[in-house]
Amino acid sequence: MKFKKMFALMASTVLCVGMLAGCGGSTTATSSAAGSTASGSSSAKKVIGFAQVGAESGWRTAETDSIKTIPTLDPNIDLKFSDGQQKQENQIKAIRSFIAQKVDIIALDPVVETGWDTVLKEAKDAKIPVVIVDRKVTVSDESLYKCFLGSDMVEEGKKAAQVIIDKFGKDAQLNIAELQGTVGSTAMVGRQQGFNDTIKDCKNYKIIKSQTGDFTRAKGKEVMEAFLKSDGDKINVLWAHNDDMAVGAVQAIEEYGKKPGQDIFIVSVDGIKDMFELMAAGKSNAIIECNPLLGPQLLEVSKNILDGKEVERSIKSKESQFLQKDAATELPNRKY
Ligand code: AHR
Repeated sequence: MKFKKMFALMASTVLCVGMLAGCGGSTTATSSAAGSTASGSSSAKKVIGFAQVGAESGWRTAETDSIKTIPTLDPNIDLKFSDGQQKQENQIKAIRSFIAQKVDIIALDPVVETGWDTVLKEAKDAKIPVVIVDRKVTVSDESLYKCFLGSDMVEEGKKAAQVIIDKFGKDAQLNIAELQGTVGSTAMVGRQQGFNDTIKDCKNYKIIKSQTGDFTRAKGKEVMEAFLKSDGDKINVLWAHNDDMAVGAVQAIEEYGKKPGQDIFIVSVDGIKDMFELMAAGKSNAIIECNPLLGPQLLEVSKNILDGKEVERSIKSKESQFLQKDAATELPNRKY
C-alpha cells in the first residue's frame, strides 16, 4: 500500500515536469533531427527553427550540413530543420509550425523573394525574431525580419561578367548561353542583374539563349542539350547561375562533341568540389564563390539577438573567385 502511494506520487511529479517542459515555449529542448518536434528534456536550450529551400544542389547540401552543426557548436542551442523541397508553400507551413512550437528564432532561406508578408507578420506577432539566410525577401514592412545573412548575388553576377570581359575584351563578338537559377529567387534575379549590368556596354556580347535549369544538374543538362541542338555552333560562352547546372551542361557539351572549357568558355557560381575537379581538368574556366558554410555565422547572429544585442541589418558571408589556373591548388582546400 505504502509502495503504491509512493509510486503514484513519483508518477504525478514526472508528469507535471513533463507538461511544464512541453509548455515552456522559448526554453523547450528539442531534437535536432530533421523535421522533428520531439521535446521533453529539462535543460533550458534555445531553439532555432530553420526553413530550408530544399536539396537541389551541392551548395544547398553543404549549407544544410553547416547549419546542422549549430547544436554541436553550442550545446545550449537546438535546431529544428525543415526541407521545403523547393516549394514556398512548404516553407510557409514550416514557419507556422515553428511559431506553434514557440521556437526562439526562425531562420528562413526563402526559395523566392516575394510572398512572405503574411507569414512573417505572424512570426512578428508571436514575437519571434526572423533571420533571413542566403536568399533575400521583398516585403512591404522591413521590420518583419531582424536581419539578412548571406552573399551579395548582384556582386556575384558582376564578377562572372568581369571574368568574361577580362578574358575576351569588351569589343569581342560573343554569343552567350545563360542557364538561369530558380525563377524569382535572389540567386537568379541578383546574378542576372549584376551580369547584365556589367556587359551592357559590350555591344557585341549577345545572350542568345537564356532559360532556367532550376539550379539542378539534371535540368542544367537538359536545357543545355536544347541550347546546343538549336544553336550549338554559335555558342562561345556559357554563363551558369550555379555549378550544378554547369556540371550538367559540361556533360551535354561533351555528348554534343565539343570541348567544354575550350570550345565553350564556362563561368559559374558556387565553388563545389565537382566543379573544381572539372576546372582542374580544363573543362571549365572560372568559378565565382558563393559560401554555403553559414552555420557558425547564423549561430553567432542568433545568440546576439537572443542576448538582446544590436545586430547589423545585412551580414555578408566571406567569398572569393577562382580561375582555371587556381583549380588544382584550391581543390584540396574545398570543404563542399
Ligand atoms: O541560393 C544559393 C544558390 O542556391 C546556390 O548558388 C545554388 O547552387 C543553390 O541552389
